[in-house]
This record gives sequence, structure tokens and C-alpha cells, in this order.
Amino acid sequence: MQHSNSSETISSVSSATSLYDFNSSTPVQIEERLTINLIQSSSVPESNLEEGQDVIEGLSNRPKSLPPKYFYDELGSQLFEQICELPEYYLTRTEAAILQQYAGAIAQLTGPCELVELGSGSATKTRLLLDAYQDYGYPLTYIPIDVSGSMLTESAHQLLATYSDLRIHGLVSTYELALAQLPPTTLPTRMLCFIGSSLGNLTPEACDEFMTQVAAALQPGEYFLLGVDLHKSDDLLEAAYNDSQGVTAKFNLNMLHHLNWRFQGNFDSNQFEHVAFYNQAKRQIEIYLKSLTSQVATLRALNLTVNFAADEMLLSEISRKFDLQALTQTLQDHGLKPLKTFTDDKQWFGLLLCERQDNQPEEQ
Ligand code: TRP
Repeated sequence: MQHSNSSETISSVSSATSLYDFNSSTPVQIEERLTINLIQSSSVPESNLEEGQDVIEGLSNRPKSLPPKYFYDELGSQLFEQICELPEYYLTRTEAAILQQYAGAIAQLTGPCELVELGSGSATKTRLLLDAYQDYGYPLTYIPIDVSGSMLTESAHQLLATYSDLRIHGLVSTYELALAQLPPTTLPTRMLCFIGSSLGNLTPEACDEFMTQVAAALQPGEYFLLGVDLHKSDDLLEAAYNDSQGVTAKFNLNMLHHLNWRFQGNFDSNQFEHVAFYNQAKRQIEIYLKSLTSQVATLRALNLTVNFAADEMLLSEISRKFDLQALTQTLQDHGLKPLKTFTDDKQWFGLLLCERQDNQPEEQ
């Protein structure tokens, strides 16, 4: 499978060792209203993680695991967009309905505000926010952050075509690196958006660390908009990650193709199967790649050989399901105070508008 084809000249892939599918680390001014730059770990002093180190670490865990960012190569990002439209995948629709209803209230509360989005993807739901800010006559500035340069570039062009006054500064980056070096704000305030229940893809420990990074990236008084999936019946939850058309399975298996491409690997995706179920005790969906046979795979660029037993399960993702009360407390503990919580009629999904508190909240 090839992932290096892109119609975007600026996002062409030069080699399997280049980071993501975008290859310019200096900001590229694509047109007057659009700048994109790639943030690599080498440009962030605090991060000393070599590319692929997280793969080596994940595959040496028991059970073996892989970091979810490797889902999102060009094909993976496209498959994820398909997941969002599946009948069983209620999350996107439900969150969009909440945004549709309350984007105006959010815009009114924040006033003129720069929108920063972690994991922007196609930015379809972001349009609901942009519409609301536009209706108030506020200036529109958007900072999308995504690991897929092709997805980011394409969605940026589409947004510019719709919003004639919009300015975009895209960052092709992981969450962690982008949070460590957000460009300075150009508007009176800023709202960091993290929607689509991506918070649920972090373990509780990673979630704590993430919230600490979010609080550090924001100034007191700035906003954090968080969308999370809530507890509900097992049947509904499991169906959302085991769709009848098999798109989720394809998405999951594509991670192996992505690793093959990026790290010169030889995983045979036909020898793995998609498995997803709800772990009641941990209140999380767990998504695995199950090895169908006893097999060996190598990732040459990482100098890594991996042995799988027959039926061995490799954890590719968790998706935690939240309780609004507990989450509100966790946010508050990190200096991110929920000002308003919006949900749908069935209470399936929650959208929390939080405000970054002054420093040292525990001393107040
Ligand atoms: N944030 C999404 C979620 O937790 C990610 C996701 C949706 C996902 N479907 C998936 C991840 C299937 C892996 C496999 O719902």
C-alpha cells in the first residue's frame, strides 16, 4: 500500500523517515491567508524523544500497544472521516448537534477569540464555531493542528474558500509538540478546542499530563473547549467501534500499513484481525489488533523485530467514556474550570467550555 501520493505539491513525501506527510519545517506561506508549518521534536528543546521511540516502547509493553497517532496517515485520516459518518458512530453527529445548538452561546461568552484545534482533521464541526463567530462579526483566526499534513492542507483550503476573512496558521504536529510552542495569539483571547472525544484516547495518567500541558499553553482567562463521550449502554458503545461495513476494522489494520511505510516494516495485515469491546471495569472501549498466527514482523528503520503468538492481542486504542461530574473535578484540579457544560437530550455526549484559572489554583 502506498501513502506517499498526494495531489498537494507542498505535502509530498520525500522519504519513509520524514515526519508525517509534510516536509517543510520552516513556515510555508501558501497564500496570503494561509501559513503552515511542521513542528518536529528536534525543534522543541523539552522533547528528547526520537521518532519511533514510542513504537519501540509500545511494542515492548505487555500487552503490546501502539500510540494512536499512528492511525493518522493520509489513508487513516480519510478512513476516520468515513467512521464519523457511519450510522453506528453516534459520536460525531451528537457532538455536531450540540455545537449547532450552542456555538452562538460559546461565541457570546468568549467574545472575539482565536480558535486553536488539536486534531483538526477535516474541521467539519469547526465550521459550526466559525459560523457563530462570523455571525457576531468577530475576526476569524484558526490554528488547526494535525499529524496529517495532507488532511490539514486540504481542509484549510476548503475553509478559506468558505470564509472570506478567515486567516489560518496550521501546525503539522503532535498535540504535545504543538502545545509546547503555540504561536502568539493575535486576538484578545484564545480557545483551545479538543473535540471528538479524543481525550478518551488517553490513559488517565496521560490525561493528567495532557491537562497540565493545556493549562500551561493557555494564559489565565483563555478558554478550553472539550468534547467527550459519556457512559451509556454497552450495546451502543460496542456497535460504534464494530461497524457493519467494516470501516473501523480497515482503519485499525491500516495502522500496520502506516508503520510499514514509515519504518520500513513488513507487517502482514492479513494476519491480524480487528477486535473491539467495552471493558466495564475501566469504562473504556478497547481496540486491539489480534494476531491470527504465530508470526514475526520487523521494522527495519527502528532495528526492531517483534514476535507475536497466535491470538496475541496488540492494544491499538482505548476510548474512555466519561462521567461529567468526575471530569469536571479533574479539569478543575488542573486549573481548567468548566464554566458551562452542554449535552444532548439523551446525555450521550458532553461539551465543556472551560476557563484557564489564575496560577496556583490550589492556593486560592
Ligand atoms: N476519538 C475517537 C473515539 O474515541 C477515535 C476513534 C473512533 C477510534 N473510532 C475509532 C480509534 C476506531 C480507533 C478505532 O471514538
